[in-house]
Amino acid sequence: MNSIEQMLSDWMRKTFAEEFPEAQEGLADLRVMTTASPEFGDYQCNAAMGLARRLKQNPRQLAGRIAGRARHESVARLEVAGPGFINITLDDAWLGAHMERMAADPDLCVPKPGSGRTMILDYSSPNVAKPMHIGHIRSTVIGNALDRLHRFLGWRVISDNHLGDWGTQFGIIIMGFKKGVDLKALESEPIDELERIYRESYKRSQEDPEWLDACRQELVRLQAGDPENLALWKRFVDLSMGEFSRIYKRLDVAFDMVRGESFYNDRLAGVVEQLTSAGLARESEGAIVAFLDDEKLPPCLVRKSDGAFNYATTDIATIQRRVEEFNPELIVYVTDERQQLHFKQVFTVSRKLGVKTRLDHVWFGLMRLPEGTFSTREGNVIKLERLLDEAESKALAVVREASPEMPADRQAEVARAVGIGAVKYADLSQNPQSLVVFTWEKALALNGNSAPYLQYAYARIRSVQDKFAERFPSSDLAAHPIRLTEKHERALAVKAAGFADAVMLAAASFKPSMLADYLYDLAVLYSSFYQNVPFLKADAGFRESRVRLCGLTGAILRKGLSLLGIGTMDRI
Ligand code: ARG
Repeated sequence: MNSIEQMLSDWMRKTFAEEFPEAQEGLADLRVMTTASPEFGDYQCNAAMGLARRLKQNPRQLAGRIAGRARHESVARLEVAGPGFINITLDDAWLGAHMERMAADPDLCVPKPGSGRTMILDYSSPNVAKPMHIGHIRSTVIGNALDRLHRFLGWRVISDNHLGDWGTQFGIIIMGFKKGVDLKALESEPIDELERIYRESYKRSQEDPEWLDACRQELVRLQAGDPENLALWKRFVDLSMGEFSRIYKRLDVAFDMVRGESFYNDRLAGVVEQLTSAGLARESEGAIVAFLDDEKLPPCLVRKSDGAFNYATTDIATIQRRVEEFNPELIVYVTDERQQLHFKQVFTVSRKLGVKTRLDHVWFGLMRLPEGTFSTREGNVIKLERLLDEAESKALAVVREASPEMPADRQAEVARAVGIGAVKYADLSQNPQSLVVFTWEKALALNGNSAPYLQYAYARIRSVQDKFAERFPSSDLAAHPIRLTEKHERALAVKAAGFADAVMLAAASFKPSMLADYLYDLAVLYSSFYQNVPFLKADAGFRESRVRLCGLTGAILRKGLSLLGIGTMDRI
């Protein structure tokens, strides 16, 4: 099965090749794309212009030759426009039948281009003994959407939460813990307490050389396998993981593996050894460094002068291990923009060590919170859990107002889905690489590009379906074909047909925002369809056809939102 863009692209490519056998190569990247406005048809092909340049011919004439001969069951009309665009208009009967095919398929006719392919997705990856702050939400939410999108497209996705659970911070925490843990606080707010210990011990290490030295010794003891320190370390990891798991549960996020940095500890010396013996790294001021001058990158430190290994060393070891164990086609990392150089260096060094796997860093800008976003001020670190609590309570107010008659426990349930959905969508609907300014007004808007708007559109569709079932209880919807006769319903159907392409584009470009934009456009078109075309009052046949199109729109919204990790409810 192919998406519409694939189907039309294959057909255009074939037609061009038949008409211009001399131009075979150069057609490989021919692509038909959706148009921004119906005046240019439903899809458009711009290949004639490039080809005309190469063949030194007139592009409009060339496009005319294609338009004159090309025939396809799905296409009603081809028109040459502007300097040589070929505008493609789908055939209404074919489009109606395609709507029926989509409605009958649980996967909504989305192909499985990922089948038989493996990718590793490294995301979320918070640090032990530190709170998961607002910056981690983007990695978790974007990473999880990429996970869902790729799985839906048939990929074998191995999601891996690469916890920061090793390294110098543990000497500082162990020292602080031994000298002054507040056990009560550790029980009630473990992460807060660990963070306090870290902060105070770190501060002291900066002022007091003896303290700093003691911290180093604690670290050395941990790394040498001292049972007491190892037990403490394990306790910190478990406490942190307990907190993180609570958040993952609220966000409906799950991983295939949680392998922290510590998992790769016994491979680090080997990485440095490989690099030095291959002449790729050498000593410099007591440290071991891989110089990347040829690549115009700053040197990559793989072992510090005190013998400790670096963040980069762990990541190189991690790549090697992942390649050996899973042989993936692709490894994708999702972190904030500050790690761009780190990954460039790590990828470059890994290539030099012979890694062939495609490696991608998906980075995102930081989220900005305007003054007064939170009712409770907590300094700079705004914790994820507070944000989620606040989202749910604000959503509850919205739900109470929208549905005062709903039982209170049901209101709370809906508010949970709306609140969490709003926070996720506020993030996912932006280009990951843009600066996001988060505001509650926008995130929770019932009209506007927000999760509640889409969830509400879905609930309205469900209620149209219920009303239909009440009024026409014995109607067999499937016995009535989907017919597209009105402008608004046709526009909705054309958009609906583009679902597969939207999903594939969002996945391939690592931009869930592409799918969010699509769903928003679909909901807006649905809204004008609903307002302008009679449904239940329409004549028999049209009525059923429209209710079916409405049901398909609902199925697309539901599936699309679920690919973004956002739930839908039948009532809001
Ligand atoms: N723990 C790191 C941080 O919080 C992110 C790790 C990303 N993944 C990786 N393989 N380096 O900044």
